[in-house]
Amino acid sequence: MADRILVTTDDLEHAVRINAGLEAAGFDTAMVSSFDDVRQAVRGRGLPPDCIILTGGLHETPAQHLLASAREHAISTLGLVESTEPDAKELARDIGLTAWLVKPVDPQDAVTTTRRLIDRRKLQQRTGILGESAAIQEVLVKIEQMAPVTSTVLIEGESGTGKELVAKAIHDLSPRRGKPFIAVNCAAIPDTLLESELFGHEKGAFTGAAERRLGRFELADGGSIFLDEVGDMPPATQVKVLRVLEDRTFFRVGGIQPIKVDVRVITATNRSLKDAVALGQFRDDLFYRLNVLWIYLPPLRERRSDIPLLVRRFIAEFATTHSRQDRPDRQFRGITAEALQILAEADWPGNIRQLRNLIESMVVLAPEGEIRASDIPPDIRDRGRGLPMLVPGAALRDGVGQEVQFILRSLVELKLQIEELRRRVEERPAAGGGRRVELIEVAPSDPLDAEAPEGPVIYRAGMTMADVERAAIEAALRETRGNRRKAAEVLGIGERTLYRKLKEYQLA
Ligand SMILES: Nc1ncnc2c1ncn2[C@@H]1O[C@H](COP(=O)(O)OP(=O)(O)OP(=O)(O)O)[C@@H](O)[C@H]1O
Ligand SMILES: [Mg+2]
Repeated sequence: MADRILVTTDDLEHAVRINAGLEAAGFDTAMVSSFDDVRQAVRGRGLPPDCIILTGGLHETPAQHLLASAREHAISTLGLVESTEPDAKELARDIGLTAWLVKPVDPQDAVTTTRRLIDRRKLQQRTGILGESAAIQEVLVKIEQMAPVTSTVLIEGESGTGKELVAKAIHDLSPRRGKPFIAVNCAAIPDTLLESELFGHEKGAFTGAAERRLGRFELADGGSIFLDEVGDMPPATQVKVLRVLEDRTFFRVGGIQPIKVDVRVITATNRSLKDAVALGQFRDDLFYRLNVLWIYLPPLRERRSDIPLLVRRFIAEFATTHSRQDRPDRQFRGITAEALQILAEADWPGNIRQLRNLIESMVVLAPEGEIRASDIPPDIRDRGRGLPMLVPGAALRDGVGQEVQFILRSLVELKLQIEELRRRVEERPAAGGGRRVELIEVAPSDPLDAEAPEGPVIYRAGMTMADVERAAIEAALRETRGNRRKAAEVLGIGERTLYRKLKEYQLA
């Protein structure tokens, strides 16, 4: 069946030419106005379109409504941007286009881009990776490029951002797809067992080794091995994995025969491996071997435009899974606009996993057969509107670990400290400038200088919020002896945010 494309008529000349080009290329096309929403546009024709081309009016409300509706239904969009637009890429990001072309647009280019979008859409259907945001589209392009080769891949991203899903997609799209995909969580296996788990052992290799056992590398022969939480791998095992990567051979524990395997290695970590190298916790030679191809999965809060789509998909999925055969009257109806808005604004420290788990519980528990604002736990509701409110037990219920709870708590404390500082600044008498309000001065020189006096962050007259923030970062770095991961934790901010600020304040 031909793929269905809708072309808006805002720029009639472009619309007519592109419509003709698409038709000639075999697409099932139709022209609609920007005022048509997706449902209206396909009324009487059954299936939703695969792609919508917006020929103009991108700054206008009707086009933006159409875009939002398309995103929610996982329909790709291609926008034709005026040549007078100062930054087409930024506009595309702002309004949530999947792709864009700058006018005047050759109909052939529009056809090629449309075809690419449709291929990617099929890829998403195959892999289950949802999202129309530019960030996710970039990830999909990388997956497409990385799947056919055998180079190692390193996937980085916060917990619950889809690292395992991406690893599986790379394998499933690769020529190895019929062969095993073996996942090993390096953090979940005790150090003493990891080696025999990965490489296997011979009978009698150690107490309890009653039989020969094949390791995961051998089981993955011909396919892919996914080393999850690779940053937590103990140094002794790192050496052995490095060897496998270098000559594809290893020994079983207690074995004397070298074993050769053909395995593609895909790894993931939710901490920066580069930092682990800098801290001496991860071998740099292994890091370079693993980091041949790199994918970063952005946190959900940095691609909020995908939230409505994810919410609708998860509701549909769980409404089917948990449908009550005995109560056909209790069909799950969906989510109210207000509730969706709250979910779209929340912070989601546990990313997609947290969102998915919450939707499941709400679908099961929502008393009205519909998710309403009152069904959303207070910590989520308040997170979108300023600072997190920590409801005891809530974080665990949402599948968020203690670490996240600790970070959130630190964030609240930091905010309270800053507010206290601000209050003091405001209360400070105007005269007598230069009087020190608080405690010890933080040396602005070397942030890593372990000799500098330790103590509370200070405020001095004339300091701006930026100065205070800089001082807080310096103090945190000093306290953690330059360990940036710990410093970020202490400050209750993300590691990436800390990096950005280090750069901003020229502390890096
Ligand atoms: N883009 C996406 N579209 C749909 N579902 C997704 C997407 N990304 C992640 N998920 C779902 O979210 C959940 C968490 O994903 P996954 O296990 O891949 O995350 P992770 O990054 O490996 O997390 P962790 O670091 O905690 O191991 C899974 O149920 C997965 O199917
Ligand atoms: Mg994982």
